[in-house]
Amino acid sequence: MGVVVAAGLALGACKAKEPEVRDPHLKRQLRVARSIAGQSISLRNGLEGFVEYTVKPAGSLEPPEQRILDTGEIDTYTEGERITVTFARLYSVVRQDLDSGKTYSFVRDDTGEVVIKEGWHGLKHPQDLAPFVSTPLAVAEKMLELAQVDEDDVVYDLGCGDGRIVILAAQKFGARGVGIDFNPKRIEESLQGALEAGVEDRTEFRLGDVLKADFSDATVVTVYLLTRSNERLRPLFEEQLRPGTLVATHNYRVPGWENKEIDRKTVELEPTNVHLIFLYRR
Ligand SMILES: C[S@@+](CC[C@H](N)C(=O)[O-])C[C@H]1O[C@@H](n2cnc3c(N)ncnc32)[C@H](O)[C@@H]1O
Repeated sequence: MGVVVAAGLALGACKAKEPEVRDPHLKRQLRVARSIAGQSISLRNGLEGFVEYTVKPAGSLEPPEQRILDTGEIDTYTEGERITVTFARLYSVVRQDLDSGKTYSFVRDDTGEVVIKEGWHGLKHPQDLAPFVSTPLAVAEKMLELAQVDEDDVVYDLGCGDGRIVILAAQKFGARGVGIDFNPKRIEESLQGALEAGVEDRTEFRLGDVLKADFSDATVVTVYLLTRSNERLRPLFEEQLRPGTLVATHNYRVPGWENKEIDRKTVELEPTNVHLIFLYRR
């Protein structure tokens, strides 16, 4: 998925209203702070084909920006309070205001019309904790560095995607790694990746639902899932993880673990591509 400030499984750029602040450093900090405060808006294409829409800050007279989102992609807007999104149907044009701090999806309603609905990024199944979007390798490396991973660690990536975090943990940090994903395609990619990296003996990939998984032997857990998904995982963390186990999350916090956060890092890949890492100690 494309990008935006710390917002996650996200692409697109920050299009909403610019604040008065001119200093670029301060501006960036403001965007990150807003994102941390949960003021970003994300809009996912949950349709089977691409979708075109325009966007502008709500109430603004400036010309809107054109956007095209492919299936599964997410645009994230980290500035401004509300945005107005406009998209065309066959016989009508829909204009809708989206509120800050919320997630939305393009989906079809019961009559087959395209609509924007709030929540869950259009995920169809309650078991689905996040769409597949890879953590950029540079961010994955910082997550593992922040958790000071070494050869004594067992690193679990919950919802491992193509296995890159687990593979990197073994290849570069000498750790043992376990990746869990419920999508067989992801597990195949992970196994292939581990073979190519020559770390198949120190990595394991399990096909399954992380909500039902046993990861109690982890010393470090990494996740790149949505905030609400991390919230669902929190009781499992508390039940399974030994005190002292580190949990590094990409872009999304673990609600309810504010007092367990021990570090936080911003990784700026480009001025409009900023990622957040949160580090917790169980
Ligand atoms: C945003 S991707 C993150 C991939 C990888 N961790 C990374 O950071 O590059 C989320 C992954 O979680 C997987 N996933 C979502 N819900 C899951 C569940 N309940 N059990 C296992 N995997 C899940 C998806 O298939 C997807 O590959």
